[in-house]
Amino acid sequence: MMGSLYFSEVSGFTPCTLCWYQRILMYPLAGLLAFGILRRDSHLPHLVLPFSLLGQGVSVYHFLLQKTPYLGSPSSCGVGVTCTTVWIDWFGVVTIPLLAMAGFMIITTGMLIVIAADSGGAGMIGTYRWPRWPVPLIVLAVVGIYLAGSYRAGKVYFSLPAMDIPTLEDLPFIDLSADPTATPGPTPTPTSMENGEALYSQQCASCHGENGEGADGLGTALADSPYVSGLTDSEMMALIRNGRAAGAPDNRTGVAMPGSGASANLTDEQIVDIVNYVKSWQ
Ligand code: HEC
Repeated sequence: MMGSLYFSEVSGFTPCTLCWYQRILMYPLAGLLAFGILRRDSHLPHLVLPFSLLGQGVSVYHFLLQKTPYLGSPSSCGVGVTCTTVWIDWFGVVTIPLLAMAGFMIITTGMLIVIAADSGGAGMIGTYRWPRWPVPLIVLAVVGIYLAGSYRAGKVYFSLPAMDIPTLEDLPFIDLSADPTATPGPTPTPTSMENGEALYSQQCASCHGENGEGADGLGTALADSPYVSGLTDSEMMALIRNGRAAGAPDNRTGVAMPGSGASANLTDEQIVDIVNYVKSWQ
């Protein structure tokens, strides 16, 4: 629970619909488990399992939706942020739904162990005594995570150095011999434009609007923004590649923009196409 609140409140990642279902199933467990363990309630597994099994189902579905093409189109879940937006991608597999899935799995397994231990005894429900020692440990862990999170959030807000934005030399496809203020970068070809339009509506439109008009609380307007017209092509490419954390010093809305739109593997060429398309509105 603290982890997911950290992602949404501190990192500024907007939860999608499926994330909300997982939260609805996960958050009550924090209280249920704490009270159940304290009261040594042997019925606890029967209260917890419906939540944890359902939650696990949603997480598995969400993870497969993000990581495989079999379950539907990228924007298959409603308005707002799409369910396939990948906010974190540690080691190429660890996404937020995977973390939720692990959480639900640990809880489910724990409950199954308790049921097994209960029925393995004299066959009498209620004889199993819950150990109480995990409770203070868990409380300590939660408080610790909370303190660490607040400390880190403070650091991010107050002392993060400028973001690691690639220089022109890192972007080999840009013609350095040309005057960057005079030329619009690579000449947009019709196919680049069409690609850009398709990619934009898949990866960006859910937050920035189908015609760059922006969406409240999700993404800024791009079509008529003086800020966007002031960005050079390479600055815009760097921004699209790296995203912008909610706490970054140059963030203007307090909402995070995910790196590479909604999918971690946009190629440089695809980003050029998107930039061409977005610039065509200016
Ligand atoms: C999950 C929502 C989300 C998605 C998806 C997203 N963005 Fe953003 N984008 C944002 C937010 C929020 C900001 C504003 C960040 C700030 O406050 O500085 C932003 C800022 C920008 C900016 C700078 C303009 C400004 O007003 O700060 C550009 C350009 C941009 N996005 C382009 C894109 C492109 C191109 C894509 C698709 C590849 C994309 N974004 C996908 C949320 C999103």
